[in-house]
Amino acid sequence: MQVNVCGCEMQLVLGDITQQTVDAIVNAANSDLAGGGGVDGAIHSAGGPAIMEETREKFPDGCATGSAVVTQAGLLSAKWVIHAVGPVWKGGQLEEPLQLMSAYRRCMQLATELECESVALPAISTGAYGYPIDLAANVALKTCIDYQKWHKAPQQIRFVLFSEGDYGAFARSLEQQVEI
Ligand code: APR
Repeated sequence: MQVNVCGCEMQLVLGDITQQTVDAIVNAANSDLAGGGGVDGAIHSAGGPAIMEETREKFPDGCATGSAVVTQAGLLSAKWVIHAVGPVWKGGQLEEPLQLMSAYRRCMQLATELECESVALPAISTGAYGYPIDLAANVALKTCIDYQKWHKAPQQIRFVLFSEGDYGAFARSLEQQVEI
């Protein structure tokens, strides 16, 4: 599924984020940048040890929740990996929506600074961190669509969803947020 946002592309695809050929791939990291399972495990496994070596060297203190940092992309078909730290879901009454929005927004800012034309993103926080997929889809898409509207960049944003159910949640949310 693809929609036009002020001349930019917003895409949804079903697949593995490590298999995307784009300028930047976004990782769903933890605040220690210590690696893990899910997207994080897949990215470090496919990208090779250079990514973790650079992460340890440049960001020994990790990365705050709601923020993101950049490394090169090792063996992945990308120039950069943007390591974003989403919130752990604790019922939604704390700062989770703001923190998730902030994480996506920081990814967009870094992608713009790096002059990325294309960025692939996962559904941050919806795996190990337990954020409900429907709510996460609304935040993810709204944040990135707003960014594209205001900045006319990145030219192509691709959300890479890992299951039919996750794809459906993002597709429903995207239909509601833009005129198709
Ligand atoms: N490609 C795309 N999406 C994927 C992939 C993949 N290869 N693997 C998993 N996913 C999906 C999951 O199904 C989920 O919908 O990405 C979403 C995010 O899940 P997680 O990777 O668990 O990320 P998150 O919920 O943000 O939790 C982060 O998990 O692995 C650890 O180190 C990581 O501690 C951090 C935490």
